Amino acid sequence: MPATPKTMDAIVALCRRRGFIWQSSEIYGGINGFWDYGPLGAELKKNLKDAWWHDIVRCPGKGPDGHFIDMVGVDCTIIMHPKVWEASGHVAGFNDPMVDDKETKDRFRADHLWGLIITDAPGDAAFDLKMTVASMLRNGYTVVHYSFVAGSLGEVTDYVKTNPKELREFGKVDGDIVPHPFGVAVPYPKGKCGLIFPISVDEQKIHYLELPSPFTGKRGTLTEPRQFNLMFESHAGPIKDEANKVYLRPETAQGIFTQFWNVVDTSRVKVPFGIAQIGKAFRNEVTPRNFTFRSREFEQMEIEFFIRPEKANEWYKFWRDSRFAWWQSVGLAGENLQLREHDRDELAHYAKEGAGTSDIEYRFPFTAPGYGELEGVAHRTDFDLRQHANTCGKGDKLKYFDQELQVKLQNEGASKDEINAKSRYFPHVIEPSAGADRGTLALLCEAFTPDETRPSGVYMKFQPRIAPIKAGIFPLVNKDGMPEIAEKLYLELRQSWCVQFDEKQTIGKRYARMDEAGTPYCFTVDGETAGTQTVTVRHRDTQQQERVGLDKVGAFLKEKMSM
Ligand code: GAP
Repeated sequence: MPATPKTMDAIVALCRRRGFIWQSSEIYGGINGFWDYGPLGAELKKNLKDAWWHDIVRCPGKGPDGHFIDMVGVDCTIIMHPKVWEASGHVAGFNDPMVDDKETKDRFRADHLWGLIITDAPGDAAFDLKMTVASMLRNGYTVVHYSFVAGSLGEVTDYVKTNPKELREFGKVDGDIVPHPFGVAVPYPKGKCGLIFPISVDEQKIHYLELPSPFTGKRGTLTEPRQFNLMFESHAGPIKDEANKVYLRPETAQGIFTQFWNVVDTSRVKVPFGIAQIGKAFRNEVTPRNFTFRSREFEQMEIEFFIRPEKANEWYKFWRDSRFAWWQSVGLAGENLQLREHDRDELAHYAKEGAGTSDIEYRFPFTAPGYGELEGVAHRTDFDLRQHANTCGKGDKLKYFDQELQVKLQNEGASKDEINAKSRYFPHVIEPSAGADRGTLALLCEAFTPDETRPSGVYMKFQPRIAPIKAGIFPLVNKDGMPEIAEKLYLELRQSWCVQFDEKQTIGKRYARMDEAGTPYCFTVDGETAGTQTVTVRHRDTQQQERVGLDKVGAFLKEKMSM
């Protein structure tokens, strides 16, 4: 079988065929932005979340202060008091600006509008501009042929500089695309050059009515941008009126912030400490796309780490680097993972200007050569705790009392006023916020390994700790006592791991099924087993086999799972 090229279509097909991910409500034609995990996908995603919970909540390492990190977990509701979302800023600020085409009823995000300037270029560089535009469209951008300027690249640059529109760098690009301070200069066939640039909505002087519709090319059919809130609404109780309006949480973070005071009162945590949560979040995304990457229902794995304000930088760097290393540790170790500090104009409404905010990004097949966000690490300051304290009416009474700091200041001979002022404060927050679905998707993309020696031209190379099935247990044939020995081994191993017993079809077909499921080891009971008390173990990646004692299989797996 020729190797199956690693394309998004091939990954989606394998996910469907093997039961990793399916469209929600598929028998009714599916529902846009919602996805179900099949048996393999459910195990894979659970393994990712379990690894996170284990490494973050149960067994965190040491922080930059040399002490073991204090972390506790919570599990909060999806629907919370509506005031939570007023305090957090989501009612007022969690909006996307939308532009509609009045004729076609199509809609696009105004901040995903890109301009394209085509001009005469020096040289005859050949680059397929259409490919670039197609890839941008796939990624949710709307490209409008905005302006055509005659002149050299330098003249275009001057044109752009003197243009009132704010332009910023497109991002990391290579190959024939030339990074440019204002956009991306694209050598274009026939001696022309294109400059693609994002059009800022905030400071825009754009009149959408004058722009050609990206759907039809006609002018005068677009509306001006209108704000569209991304929170799903519902009603609590039988009466559907404003008073009963509630929201499905768009982030798990606010459950943590609103329970901060209960955690402090009931656990023995002291600043610096963290509260972690895994749970569903919902966003009525305007353009859900790229498989599970942008869904309307998804899961987050969030940490809110509470610190003294002056320690923000140190802890921000710590979390940024340790979260990057964690993603490497679960199998995203190659060049497809990158860390990117945010541009100033990308900051969320709660993030502090000048403070760190970065994204851990993965190069998905549909973002390549660009990257898509897996996790954001942000310094949220004391914004949320302060907002909730003020909105619920208790204000400064809810400040955290730092007894250790009080003692330290006393020992340093600080005045009573200074001690009082400094030892009560709203802690600052460093927030590493990861997506469980995007993480699972990245693991699937990374694991997909084209290989002409496999029957389907591909196998899934998951790290053993993350693999949905840890081992296949097979009797070579269904006679001579082999099924009984294999079943006994299976019953033993399944107490500790997700393993699968399979006695159907040829051994080659069983290996092939396990290769597509990404199962790292297969143990086969064969004609020698009864006599030597050994089984063969087949390694997924090398397809090599060796013999191992029946009584050593558990220890073998345990060792491999901890690697
Ligand atoms: N509490 C901060 C917060 O929610 P965010 O960057 O909006 O920050 C955090 O989301 C993570 O949640 C993202 O890095 C991404 O992995 C995941 N995420 C956000 N929106 C998503 C969507 N529509 N579909 C799938 N995952 C999403």
